[in-house]
Amino acid sequence: MAPTDLKWSLSQAKTLAYSLMVFLSLHTVTGMSGWDGCLDGQDVFATVRENSLSGEIVAELMTDTTMEGVHWSLNGKDADWFWLDGRNIRLNTSAEKVLDREVQGPVLMAELSCQEDDSLQSVYRIMVEILNENDNSPVFAEDTVQSLIMSELIPVNTLVFTVQATDADNDKIIYSIDQSTSDAEYFKIDLPNSGEVILSKPLDYETKTQLTITIHASEMSTAERFNTSTTITITILDGDDQYPQFLPCTLLFQDDTSRVCTSPVYTVNVTEGQEDIVLDFSPGPIHAIDGDRGLNSPVSYAIISGNDDGRFLMDRETGEVRLTQAVKDRLTTPTSHLQVMAYQDNDPRKYSVATVLVHVVAVNQFYPKFDMAAYNGFVSAGKSTISLVITYGSKALMLHVQDQDFKDGFNPMIHFTFSPTSNHTDIYQVTQEGLLIAMTNELKPEQKHFLEIMAIDKESGDATFTTVVVEVLSEGQSIPMSPLGDEHLISCTVGKALFLSMVFMTILGCILCLIMWLKKRHKGHKGPLERGCVAQGKHPNVVR
Ligand SMILES: *[C@@H]1O[C@H](CO)[C@@H](O)[C@H](O)[C@H]1NC(C)=O
Ligand SMILES: *[C@@H]1O[C@H](CO)[C@@H](O)[C@H](O)[C@H]1NC(C)=O
Ligand SMILES: *[C@@H]1O[C@H](CO)[C@@H](O)[C@H](O)[C@H]1NC(C)=O
Repeated sequence: MAPTDLKWSLSQAKTLAYSLMVFLSLHTVTGMSGWDGCLDGQDVFATVRENSLSGEIVAELMTDTTMEGVHWSLNGKDADWFWLDGRNIRLNTSAEKVLDREVQGPVLMAELSCQEDDSLQSVYRIMVEILNENDNSPVFAEDTVQSLIMSELIPVNTLVFTVQATDADNDKIIYSIDQSTSDAEYFKIDLPNSGEVILSKPLDYETKTQLTITIHASEMSTAERFNTSTTITITILDGDDQYPQFLPCTLLFQDDTSRVCTSPVYTVNVTEGQEDIVLDFSPGPIHAIDGDRGLNSPVSYAIISGNDDGRFLMDRETGEVRLTQAVKDRLTTPTSHLQVMAYQDNDPRKYSVATVLVHVVAVNQFYPKFDMAAYNGFVSAGKSTISLVITYGSKALMLHVQDQDFKDGFNPMIHFTFSPTSNHTDIYQVTQEGLLIAMTNELKPEQKHFLEIMAIDKESGDATFTTVVVEVLSEGQSIPMSPLGDEHLISCTVGKALFLSMVFMTILGCILCLIMWLKKRHKGHKGPLERGCVAQGKHPNVVR
Protein backbone atom coordinates (compact mmCIF):
# COMPACT_ATOMS: atom_id res chain seq x y z
CA MET A 1 0.00 0.00 0.00
CA ALA A 2 1.15 3.48 -0.75
CA PRO A 3 0.33 6.41 1.54
CA THR A 4 -2.07 7.72 -1.04
CA ASP A 5 -4.32 4.66 -0.71
CA LEU A 6 -6.82 6.33 1.55
CA LYS A 7 -7.27 9.18 -0.88
CA TRP A 8 -7.65 6.67 -3.62
CA SER A 9 -10.22 4.58 -1.88
CA LEU A 10 -12.31 7.71 -1.32
CA SER A 11 -12.35 8.66 -4.98
CA GLN A 12 -12.72 5.02 -5.80
CA ALA A 13 -15.81 4.84 -3.62
CA LYS A 14 -17.26 7.87 -5.39
CA THR A 15 -16.49 6.40 -8.76
CA LEU A 16 -17.98 3.12 -7.68
CA ALA A 17 -21.15 4.79 -6.58
CA TYR A 18 -21.32 6.67 -9.84
CA SER A 19 -20.58 3.56 -11.89
CA LEU A 20 -23.22 1.68 -10.00
CA MET A 21 -25.78 4.34 -10.82
CA VAL A 22 -24.83 4.27 -14.49
CA PHE A 23 -24.79 0.50 -14.45
CA LEU A 24 -28.20 0.20 -12.89
CA SER A 25 -29.75 2.75 -15.16
CA LEU A 26 -28.11 1.23 -18.24
CA HIS A 27 -29.28 -2.20 -17.31
CA THR A 28 -32.70 -0.88 -16.81
CA VAL A 29 -32.53 0.57 -20.31
CA THR A 30 -31.08 -2.56 -21.91
CA GLY A 31 -33.33 -4.76 -19.92
CA MET A 32 -36.26 -3.02 -21.37
CA SER A 33 -34.91 -3.01 -24.90
CA GLY A 34 -34.09 -6.76 -24.72
CA TRP A 35 -30.74 -6.81 -26.61
CA ASP A 36 -29.16 -10.00 -25.40
CA GLY A 37 -25.69 -9.69 -27.05
CA CYS A 38 -24.64 -6.87 -24.77
CA LEU A 39 -26.28 -8.31 -21.67
CA ASP A 40 -23.75 -11.09 -21.66
CA GLY A 41 -21.06 -8.92 -20.16
CA GLN A 42 -19.92 -8.60 -16.57
CA ASP A 43 -18.00 -6.26 -14.32
CA VAL A 44 -14.29 -6.88 -14.20
CA PHE A 45 -12.33 -6.92 -10.96
CA ALA A 46 -8.71 -7.77 -11.41
CA THR A 47 -5.21 -7.16 -10.17
CA VAL A 48 -1.98 -6.46 -11.98
CA ARG A 49 1.52 -6.19 -10.67
CA GLU A 50 3.18 -2.83 -10.66
CA ASN A 51 5.73 -2.51 -13.47
CA SER A 52 4.06 -5.28 -15.52
CA LEU A 53 4.95 -5.42 -19.17
CA SER A 54 2.77 -4.32 -22.03
CA GLY A 55 0.45 -7.01 -23.38
CA GLU A 56 0.07 -8.75 -20.05
CA ILE A 57 -3.45 -10.17 -19.69
CA VAL A 58 -5.26 -8.33 -16.94
CA ALA A 59 -8.54 -10.17 -17.29
CA GLU A 60 -10.35 -12.52 -19.60
CA LEU A 61 -13.99 -11.81 -20.35
CA MET A 62 -16.57 -14.58 -20.19
CA THR A 63 -18.42 -12.86 -22.99
CA ASP A 64 -18.27 -13.71 -26.62
CA THR A 65 -17.01 -10.43 -27.95
CA THR A 66 -17.11 -11.51 -31.56
CA MET A 67 -20.89 -11.56 -31.97
CA GLU A 68 -22.05 -9.92 -35.14
CA GLY A 69 -23.38 -6.38 -34.75
CA VAL A 70 -22.09 -6.09 -31.22
CA HIS A 71 -19.13 -3.83 -30.48
CA TRP A 72 -17.21 -3.86 -27.28
CA SER A 73 -14.91 -1.01 -26.33
CA LEU A 74 -12.99 0.40 -23.41
CA ASN A 75 -13.69 3.88 -22.14
CA GLY A 76 -13.32 5.89 -19.05
CA LYS A 77 -10.59 7.49 -17.09
CA ASP A 78 -7.89 4.82 -17.26
CA ALA A 79 -8.97 3.15 -20.47
CA ASP A 80 -5.62 4.03 -22.07
CA TRP A 81 -3.98 1.48 -19.80
CA PHE A 82 -5.78 -1.38 -21.48
CA TRP A 83 -6.67 -2.71 -24.84
CA LEU A 84 -9.10 -5.32 -25.82
CA ASP A 85 -7.73 -8.33 -27.59
CA GLY A 86 -10.63 -10.63 -28.27
CA ARG A 87 -11.79 -11.69 -24.83
CA ASN A 88 -8.61 -10.50 -23.16
CA ILE A 89 -8.11 -7.19 -21.54
CA ARG A 90 -4.42 -6.57 -21.92
CA LEU A 91 -2.16 -4.05 -20.27
CA ASN A 92 -1.00 -1.11 -22.41
CA THR A 93 2.41 0.14 -21.19
CA SER A 94 5.62 1.24 -22.83
CA ALA A 95 9.09 2.34 -21.86
CA GLU A 96 7.73 5.84 -21.29
CA LYS A 97 4.49 4.67 -19.74
CA VAL A 98 5.36 2.45 -16.81
CA LEU A 99 2.69 1.14 -14.54
CA ASP A 100 3.61 2.78 -11.26
CA ARG A 101 1.28 2.42 -8.33
CA GLU A 102 2.98 5.31 -6.58
CA VAL A 103 2.08 7.53 -9.54
CA GLN A 104 -1.25 6.10 -10.80
CA GLY A 105 -2.71 5.25 -7.48
CA PRO A 106 -3.67 1.76 -6.35
CA VAL A 107 -6.61 1.22 -8.68
CA LEU A 108 -7.20 1.75 -12.38
CA MET A 109 -10.74 2.30 -13.45
CA ALA A 110 -12.30 2.00 -16.84
CA GLU A 111 -15.54 0.99 -18.43
CA LEU A 112 -16.35 -1.77 -20.78
CA SER A 113 -19.03 -0.53 -23.14
CA CYS A 114 -21.11 -2.54 -25.46
CA GLN A 115 -22.83 -1.16 -28.53
CA GLU A 116 -25.23 -2.84 -30.79
CA ASP A 117 -25.96 -1.16 -34.07
CA ASP A 118 -24.12 1.92 -32.95
CA SER A 119 -26.25 2.44 -29.89
CA LEU A 120 -24.87 1.97 -26.46
CA GLN A 121 -26.43 -0.94 -24.73
CA SER A 122 -24.36 -1.82 -21.72
CA VAL A 123 -21.55 -0.41 -19.58
CA TYR A 124 -19.61 -2.64 -17.23
CA ARG A 125 -16.98 -1.45 -14.82
CA ILE A 126 -13.39 -2.47 -14.84
CA MET A 127 -11.49 -2.07 -11.60
CA VAL A 128 -7.89 -3.17 -11.57
CA GLU A 129 -5.82 -2.93 -8.46
CA ILE A 130 -2.15 -2.34 -9.02
CA LEU A 131 -0.23 -4.68 -6.76
CA ASN A 132 2.68 -2.97 -5.04
CA GLU A 133 6.25 -3.81 -5.85
CA ASN A 134 9.19 -2.48 -3.91
CA ASP A 135 10.46 -0.10 -6.52
CA ASN A 136 11.32 2.92 -4.35
CA SER A 137 14.17 3.74 -2.02
CA PRO A 138 13.74 5.73 1.15
CA VAL A 139 14.18 9.46 0.74
CA PHE A 140 15.24 11.77 3.53
CA ALA A 141 12.98 14.69 4.29
CA GLU A 142 15.17 17.63 3.39
CA ASP A 143 14.30 19.66 6.45
CA THR A 144 15.47 16.93 8.80
CA VAL A 145 18.94 16.60 7.31
CA GLN A 146 20.17 20.18 7.32
CA SER A 147 23.52 21.30 8.72
CA LEU A 148 23.32 21.92 12.43
CA ILE A 149 24.88 24.19 14.99
CA MET A 150 25.19 23.01 18.56
CA SER A 151 26.90 24.13 21.72
CA GLU A 152 29.84 22.15 23.07
CA LEU A 153 28.10 22.22 26.44
CA ILE A 154 25.31 19.90 25.33
CA PRO A 155 25.41 16.96 27.75
CA VAL A 156 26.05 13.44 26.57
CA ASN A 157 22.86 11.40 25.99
CA THR A 158 20.92 14.42 24.82
CA LEU A 159 18.70 13.91 21.79
CA VAL A 160 20.34 16.34 19.42
CA PHE A 161 18.32 15.94 16.24
CA THR A 162 15.92 13.61 14.46
CA VAL A 163 16.17 12.54 10.85
CA GLN A 164 13.18 11.33 8.90
CA ALA A 165 12.96 9.52 5.61
CA THR A 166 9.93 8.29 3.73
CA ASP A 167 9.55 5.41 1.36
CA ALA A 168 7.01 5.68 -1.45
CA ASP A 169 6.30 1.98 -1.12
CA ASN A 170 5.54 2.69 2.49
CA ASP A 171 8.22 0.33 3.71
CA LYS A 172 9.37 0.55 7.31
CA ILE A 173 12.64 2.41 7.63
CA ILE A 174 15.49 1.99 10.05
CA TYR A 175 18.23 4.53 10.60
CA SER A 176 21.88 3.93 11.34
CA ILE A 177 25.07 5.96 11.60
CA ASP A 178 27.85 5.03 9.22
CA GLN A 179 30.62 3.86 11.54
CA SER A 180 33.32 4.24 8.93
CA THR A 181 33.55 7.99 9.45
CA SER A 182 35.74 9.22 12.29
CA ASP A 183 33.12 11.45 13.89
CA ALA A 184 30.59 8.63 14.11
CA GLU A 185 31.62 7.94 17.69
CA TYR A 186 30.12 11.23 18.83
CA PHE A 187 26.56 10.09 18.08
CA LYS A 188 24.30 7.09 18.35
CA ILE A 189 20.82 6.06 17.35
CA ASP A 190 19.32 4.00 20.14
CA LEU A 191 15.96 3.30 18.52
CA PRO A 192 16.61 2.41 14.88
CA ASN A 193 13.07 3.23 13.77
CA SER A 194 13.04 6.63 15.41
CA GLY A 195 15.73 8.50 13.54
CA GLU A 196 16.61 10.11 16.88
CA VAL A 197 20.28 10.97 17.01
CA ILE A 198 21.77 11.11 20.50
CA LEU A 199 25.07 12.64 21.59
CA SER A 200 27.29 9.86 22.88
CA LYS A 201 30.57 11.65 23.52
CA PRO A 202 31.28 15.11 24.97
CA LEU A 203 31.86 17.85 22.45
CA ASP A 204 34.85 20.13 22.82
CA TYR A 205 35.09 23.24 20.77
CA GLU A 206 38.73 23.69 21.71
CA THR A 207 39.75 20.48 19.97
CA LYS A 208 37.07 20.12 17.31
CA THR A 209 34.84 22.78 15.85
CA GLN A 210 33.04 20.71 13.23
CA LEU A 211 31.78 17.16 12.95
CA THR A 212 30.49 15.27 9.95
CA ILE A 213 28.39 12.14 10.11
CA THR A 214 26.71 9.97 7.52
CA ILE A 215 23.31 8.49 8.31
CA HIS A 216 21.70 5.66 6.39
CA ALA A 217 17.98 5.14 6.05
CA SER A 218 17.29 1.57 4.98
CA GLU A 219 14.15 -0.41 4.33
CA MET A 220 13.71 -2.67 7.28
CA SER A 221 11.96 -5.72 5.99
CA THR A 222 12.07 -5.75 2.20
CA ALA A 223 14.14 -8.19 0.23
CA GLU A 224 15.84 -5.37 -1.59
CA ARG A 225 16.80 -3.41 1.54
CA PHE A 226 16.90 -0.24 -0.48
CA ASN A 227 18.71 2.50 1.36
CA THR A 228 19.81 6.07 1.07
CA SER A 229 22.41 8.12 2.89
CA THR A 230 22.84 11.69 3.94
CA THR A 231 25.79 13.55 5.36
CA ILE A 232 25.19 16.06 8.08
CA THR A 233 27.65 18.70 9.16
CA ILE A 234 27.52 19.83 12.76
CA THR A 235 29.20 23.08 13.67
CA ILE A 236 30.15 23.29 17.32
CA LEU A 237 29.77 26.53 19.20
CA ASP A 238 32.08 27.46 22.00
CA GLY A 239 30.57 27.24 25.46
CA ASP A 240 32.10 28.82 28.51
CA ASP A 241 33.90 25.79 29.83
CA GLN A 242 37.52 26.95 29.80
CA TYR A 243 39.40 29.12 32.24
CA PRO A 244 41.58 32.01 31.17
CA GLN A 245 45.08 31.01 30.13
CA PHE A 246 48.23 33.01 30.64
CA LEU A 247 50.33 33.19 27.51
CA PRO A 248 52.51 31.67 26.36
CA CYS A 249 51.14 28.56 27.98
CA THR A 250 52.95 25.27 27.75
CA LEU A 251 50.79 22.48 26.46
CA LEU A 252 51.03 19.53 28.82
CA PHE A 253 48.35 17.31 27.47
CA GLN A 254 45.71 17.32 24.75
CA ASP A 255 43.22 14.80 23.52
CA ASP A 256 39.84 14.91 21.81
CA THR A 257 38.07 16.30 24.81
CA SER A 258 40.55 18.24 26.90
CA ARG A 259 43.59 20.40 26.79
CA VAL A 260 45.83 21.13 29.75
CA CYS A 261 48.47 23.80 29.67
CA THR A 262 50.55 25.52 32.32
CA SER A 263 51.06 29.21 32.91
CA PRO A 264 54.51 30.68 32.32
CA VAL A 265 56.61 32.17 35.12
CA TYR A 266 57.03 35.83 34.28
CA THR A 267 60.46 37.12 35.29
CA VAL A 268 62.05 40.54 35.34
CA ASN A 269 65.24 42.09 36.70
CA VAL A 270 64.99 45.46 38.36
CA THR A 271 67.90 47.47 39.60
CA GLU A 272 68.22 48.28 43.26
CA GLY A 273 66.79 51.78 43.79
CA GLN A 274 64.74 51.78 40.59
CA GLU A 275 61.25 53.17 41.10
CA ASP A 276 58.05 53.95 39.26
CA ILE A 277 58.79 51.86 36.22
CA VAL A 278 56.71 49.50 34.13
CA LEU A 279 58.17 46.04 34.44
CA ASP A 280 59.28 44.45 31.21
CA PHE A 281 58.78 40.75 31.79
CA SER A 282 60.28 37.78 30.08
CA PRO A 283 58.28 36.10 28.71
CA GLY A 284 56.20 39.18 28.37
CA PRO A 285 54.03 41.04 28.63
CA ILE A 286 51.77 39.40 31.19
CA HIS A 287 48.75 38.49 29.14
CA ALA A 288 45.92 36.03 29.45
CA ILE A 289 43.08 35.07 27.12
CA ASP A 290 39.83 33.25 27.65
CA GLY A 291 40.43 29.55 27.07
CA ASP A 292 37.13 29.54 25.21
CA ARG A 293 38.58 30.91 22.00
CA GLY A 294 35.16 31.15 20.44
CA LEU A 295 33.76 33.27 23.27
CA ASN A 296 36.88 35.25 24.06
CA SER A 297 35.40 36.82 27.17
CA PRO A 298 37.31 39.84 28.47
CA VAL A 299 39.85 39.04 31.17
CA SER A 300 40.96 41.17 34.14
CA TYR A 301 44.10 40.96 36.24
CA ALA A 302 44.94 41.23 39.91
CA ILE A 303 47.82 40.53 42.26
CA ILE A 304 46.76 37.96 44.81
CA SER A 305 49.89 37.62 46.95
CA GLY A 306 53.45 38.75 47.45
CA ASN A 307 52.75 42.39 46.85
CA ASP A 308 55.11 43.51 49.59
CA ASP A 309 53.04 46.38 51.01
CA GLY A 310 51.83 47.59 47.67
CA ARG A 311 55.24 47.83 46.08
CA PHE A 312 53.67 46.64 42.83
CA LEU A 313 50.59 47.86 41.03
CA MET A 314 48.86 45.77 38.42
CA ASP A 315 46.57 47.33 35.83
CA ARG A 316 43.27 45.51 36.06
CA GLU A 317 42.61 45.74 32.34
CA THR A 318 46.01 45.46 30.70
CA GLY A 319 47.93 43.35 33.21
CA GLU A 320 50.74 45.88 33.18
CA VAL A 321 52.76 45.81 36.41
CA ARG A 322 54.46 48.89 37.85
CA LEU A 323 57.08 49.00 40.53
CA THR A 324 55.96 51.92 42.68
CA GLN A 325 58.52 51.83 45.47
CA ALA A 326 62.19 51.12 45.00
CA VAL A 327 63.82 48.18 46.71
CA LYS A 328 66.32 49.87 49.00
CA ASP A 329 68.36 46.84 49.91
CA ARG A 330 68.51 43.99 47.52
CA LEU A 331 70.34 41.84 50.06
CA THR A 332 67.24 41.74 52.24
CA THR A 333 64.83 41.62 49.31
CA PRO A 334 66.65 39.87 46.50
CA THR A 335 63.46 38.59 44.85
CA SER A 336 59.77 39.44 45.05
CA HIS A 337 57.57 36.47 44.47
CA LEU A 338 54.09 37.45 43.31
CA GLN A 339 51.02 35.42 42.42
CA VAL A 340 48.83 37.13 39.87
CA MET A 341 45.46 36.04 38.60
CA ALA A 342 43.56 36.52 35.39
CA TYR A 343 39.82 36.12 35.73
CA GLN A 344 36.86 36.31 33.41
CA ASP A 345 34.98 39.56 33.79
CA ASN A 346 31.65 37.85 33.35
CA ASP A 347 32.46 35.06 35.78
CA PRO A 348 35.32 35.70 38.22
CA ARG A 349 35.09 32.12 39.42
CA LYS A 350 36.87 31.27 36.20
CA TYR A 351 40.45 32.34 36.79
CA SER A 352 44.05 31.21 36.44
CA VAL A 353 47.10 32.03 38.49
CA ALA A 354 50.64 32.71 37.34
CA THR A 355 53.86 33.33 39.19
CA VAL A 356 55.79 36.55 38.77
CA LEU A 357 59.41 36.81 39.92
CA VAL A 358 61.05 40.19 40.29
CA HIS A 359 64.79 39.89 40.86
CA VAL A 360 66.50 42.92 42.31
CA VAL A 361 69.95 43.28 40.83
CA ALA A 362 72.80 45.59 41.63
CA VAL A 363 73.31 48.68 39.56
CA ASN A 364 75.41 47.60 36.63
CA GLN A 365 76.84 50.47 34.68
CA PHE A 366 80.41 49.34 34.68
CA TYR A 367 82.24 46.27 33.60
CA PRO A 368 84.37 44.58 36.23
CA LYS A 369 88.09 44.91 35.45
CA PHE A 370 91.18 43.13 36.66
CA ASP A 371 93.67 45.40 38.41
CA MET A 372 96.29 44.33 35.92
CA ALA A 373 96.12 43.07 32.37
CA ALA A 374 98.73 40.46 33.36
CA TYR A 375 100.08 39.15 36.63
CA ASN A 376 103.44 37.61 37.43
CA GLY A 377 103.53 34.76 39.83
CA PHE A 378 106.13 32.40 41.22
CA VAL A 379 106.00 29.01 42.67
CA SER A 380 108.78 27.02 44.17
CA ALA A 381 109.61 23.59 42.84
CA GLY A 382 109.63 21.54 45.95
CA LYS A 383 108.43 18.46 47.59
CA SER A 384 105.06 19.76 48.70
CA THR A 385 102.10 18.80 46.57
CA ILE A 386 100.35 22.07 47.18
CA SER A 387 101.89 25.50 46.90
CA LEU A 388 100.49 28.97 46.91
CA VAL A 389 101.49 31.08 43.92
CA ILE A 390 103.25 34.18 45.19
CA THR A 391 104.32 37.36 43.53
CA TYR A 392 106.90 40.09 43.89
CA GLY A 393 107.77 40.94 47.44
CA SER A 394 107.02 37.41 48.52
CA LYS A 395 103.37 38.15 48.99
CA ALA A 396 100.61 35.85 47.85
CA LEU A 397 99.50 36.54 44.34
CA MET A 398 95.96 37.75 44.58
CA LEU A 399 93.89 38.50 41.53
CA HIS A 400 91.64 41.40 42.05
CA VAL A 401 88.73 42.79 40.13
CA GLN A 402 87.45 46.33 40.40
CA ASP A 403 83.81 47.04 39.76
CA GLN A 404 82.93 50.69 39.80
CA ASP A 405 79.26 49.87 40.32
CA PHE A 406 80.31 49.33 43.94
CA LYS A 407 81.40 52.07 46.28
CA ASP A 408 84.60 50.29 47.30
CA GLY A 409 85.04 48.68 43.90
CA PHE A 410 84.43 45.27 45.40
CA ASN A 411 81.72 43.16 43.72
CA PRO A 412 80.90 40.17 45.93
CA MET A 413 79.33 38.33 43.02
CA ILE A 414 82.64 38.01 41.15
CA HIS A 415 83.52 34.43 40.46
CA PHE A 416 87.02 33.42 39.33
CA THR A 417 87.58 30.60 36.97
CA PHE A 418 89.98 29.55 34.25
CA SER A 419 88.85 30.68 30.86
CA PRO A 420 87.93 27.72 28.67
CA THR A 421 91.06 28.21 26.55
CA SER A 422 93.51 28.21 29.41
CA ASN A 423 96.29 25.63 29.69
CA HIS A 424 97.58 24.00 32.86
CA THR A 425 94.19 23.82 34.51
CA ASP A 426 95.27 20.39 35.71
CA ILE A 427 98.07 21.92 37.76
CA TYR A 428 96.51 25.09 39.11
CA GLN A 429 93.38 26.01 40.90
CA VAL A 430 91.93 29.43 41.39
CA THR A 431 90.02 30.15 44.57
CA GLN A 432 87.01 32.41 44.79
CA GLU A 433 89.19 34.86 46.62
CA GLY A 434 91.50 35.18 43.63
CA LEU A 435 94.38 33.06 44.94
CA LEU A 436 96.21 30.61 42.76
CA ILE A 437 97.30 27.25 44.08
CA ALA A 438 99.63 24.86 42.32
CA MET A 439 98.49 21.33 42.99
CA THR A 440 101.51 19.27 42.01
CA ASN A 441 105.07 18.49 43.06
CA GLU A 442 106.02 17.80 39.46
CA LEU A 443 107.09 21.39 38.93
CA LYS A 444 110.51 21.83 37.34
CA PRO A 445 112.59 24.96 37.82
CA GLU A 446 112.47 27.42 34.91
CA GLN A 447 109.08 26.22 33.72
CA LYS A 448 106.77 29.05 32.75
CA HIS A 449 103.03 28.59 32.79
CA PHE A 450 100.62 30.96 31.11
CA LEU A 451 97.20 30.87 32.72
CA GLU A 452 94.09 32.55 31.36
CA ILE A 453 91.76 33.60 34.15
CA MET A 454 88.24 34.84 33.82
CA ALA A 455 86.25 36.78 36.41
CA ILE A 456 82.52 36.68 35.91
CA ASP A 457 79.88 38.77 37.64
CA LYS A 458 77.36 36.13 38.56
CA GLU A 459 74.61 38.67 38.75
CA SER A 460 75.07 40.52 35.48
CA GLY A 461 76.94 37.86 33.58
CA ASP A 462 79.67 40.39 32.73
CA ALA A 463 83.10 38.79 32.35
CA THR A 464 86.68 40.06 32.27
CA PHE A 465 89.95 38.28 31.54
CA THR A 466 93.57 38.36 32.57
CA THR A 467 96.74 36.37 32.09
CA VAL A 468 98.96 35.05 34.86
CA VAL A 469 102.51 34.03 34.05
CA VAL A 470 103.77 31.64 36.68
CA GLU A 471 107.52 30.95 36.82
CA VAL A 472 108.72 27.90 38.65
CA LEU A 473 111.69 28.73 40.88
CA SER A 474 114.18 26.22 42.14
CA GLU A 475 113.96 25.40 45.79
CA GLY A 476 115.45 28.14 47.86
CA GLN A 477 115.65 30.61 45.00
CA SER A 478 114.55 34.05 46.08
CA ILE A 479 111.64 35.91 44.54
CA PRO A 480 112.78 38.35 41.87
CA MET A 481 112.30 42.04 42.46
CA SER A 482 109.38 43.69 40.82
CA PRO A 483 110.39 45.45 37.65
CA LEU A 484 108.14 48.29 38.80
CA GLY A 485 109.80 48.50 42.19
CA ASP A 486 106.53 48.57 44.01
CA GLU A 487 107.59 46.50 47.02
CA HIS A 488 106.91 49.46 49.25
CA LEU A 489 103.22 48.77 48.82
CA ILE A 490 103.58 45.52 50.59
CA SER A 491 101.77 45.69 53.80
CA CYS A 492 102.39 42.19 54.80
CA THR A 493 104.74 39.64 53.41
CA VAL A 494 105.14 36.01 53.53
CA GLY A 495 108.45 35.78 55.30
CA LYS A 496 111.23 34.20 53.37
CA ALA A 497 112.05 31.85 56.16
CA LEU A 498 108.44 30.86 56.39
CA PHE A 499 108.33 30.38 52.66
CA LEU A 500 111.47 28.28 52.61
CA SER A 501 110.40 26.10 55.43
CA MET A 502 106.93 25.70 54.02
CA VAL A 503 105.56 22.33 54.73
CA PHE A 504 102.35 21.04 53.35
CA MET A 505 100.34 21.42 56.55
CA THR A 506 101.37 24.98 57.04
CA ILE A 507 100.39 25.97 53.56
CA LEU A 508 97.09 24.22 53.82
CA GLY A 509 96.46 25.88 57.16
CA CYS A 510 97.48 29.15 55.70
CA ILE A 511 95.12 28.77 52.75
CA LEU A 512 92.26 27.80 54.97
CA CYS A 513 92.89 30.70 57.27
CA LEU A 514 93.16 32.97 54.31
CA ILE A 515 89.86 31.84 52.88
CA MET A 516 88.10 32.31 56.20
CA TRP A 517 89.64 35.63 56.69
CA LEU A 518 88.60 36.70 53.23
CA LYS A 519 85.07 35.53 53.75
CA LYS A 520 84.92 37.71 56.84
CA ARG A 521 86.58 40.49 54.92
CA HIS A 522 83.79 40.67 52.39
CA LYS A 523 81.77 42.76 54.71
CA GLY A 524 84.63 45.10 55.45
CA HIS A 525 85.84 47.98 53.35
CA LYS A 526 89.55 47.51 53.10
CA GLY A 527 91.48 48.37 49.98
CA PRO A 528 92.44 45.76 47.40
CA LEU A 529 96.05 45.71 48.46
CA GLU A 530 95.16 45.04 52.00
CA ARG A 531 92.83 42.35 50.78
CA GLY A 532 95.79 40.71 49.07
CA CYS A 533 97.49 40.32 52.43
CA VAL A 534 97.77 36.79 53.68
CA ALA A 535 97.74 36.23 57.39
CA GLN A 536 101.28 35.39 58.25
CA GLY A 537 100.63 33.67 61.47
CA LYS A 538 98.10 31.04 62.05
CA HIS A 539 94.59 32.17 62.44
CA PRO A 540 93.24 31.45 65.93
CA ASN A 541 90.66 29.16 64.38
CA VAL A 542 93.27 27.08 62.60
CA VAL A 543 95.46 26.19 65.53
CA ARG A 544 96.49 22.61 65.26
C1 LIG B 1 -1.71 2.78 -25.29
O1 LIG B 1 -1.31 3.97 -24.65
C2 LIG B 1 -0.87 5.01 -25.47
C3 LIG B 1 -0.39 6.16 -24.63
O2 LIG B 1 -1.34 6.54 -23.70
C4 LIG B 1 -1.98 5.43 -26.39
O3 LIG B 1 -1.54 6.45 -27.26
C5 LIG B 1 -2.46 4.23 -27.18
O4 LIG B 1 -3.56 4.58 -27.96
C6 LIG B 1 -2.85 3.10 -26.27
N1 LIG B 1 -3.14 1.92 -26.99
C7 LIG B 1 -4.33 1.39 -26.99
C8 LIG B 1 -4.46 0.17 -27.85
O5 LIG B 1 -5.27 1.85 -26.35
C1 LIG C 1 22.46 -0.13 0.97
O1 LIG C 1 22.18 -0.88 -0.17
C2 LIG C 1 23.28 -1.52 -0.76
C3 LIG C 1 22.82 -2.25 -1.99
O2 LIG C 1 21.86 -1.53 -2.64
C4 LIG C 1 23.91 -2.48 0.23
O3 LIG C 1 25.06 -3.04 -0.32
C5 LIG C 1 24.24 -1.74 1.50
O4 LIG C 1 24.71 -2.65 2.46
C6 LIG C 1 23.02 -1.04 2.04
N1 LIG C 1 23.43 -0.25 3.17
C7 LIG C 1 22.74 -0.26 4.31
C8 LIG C 1 23.27 0.62 5.36
O5 LIG C 1 21.75 -0.93 4.47
C1 LIG D 1 68.24 38.82 34.92
O1 LIG D 1 69.61 38.83 35.06
C2 LIG D 1 70.25 37.58 34.94
C3 LIG D 1 71.72 37.77 35.21
O2 LIG D 1 71.92 38.38 36.43
C4 LIG D 1 70.05 37.06 33.56
O3 LIG D 1 70.64 35.78 33.43
C5 LIG D 1 68.59 36.97 33.28
O4 LIG D 1 68.39 36.59 31.97
C6 LIG D 1 67.91 38.30 33.53
N1 LIG D 1 66.54 38.10 33.44
C7 LIG D 1 65.78 38.91 32.72
C8 LIG D 1 64.35 38.61 32.72
O5 LIG D 1 66.22 39.86 32.12
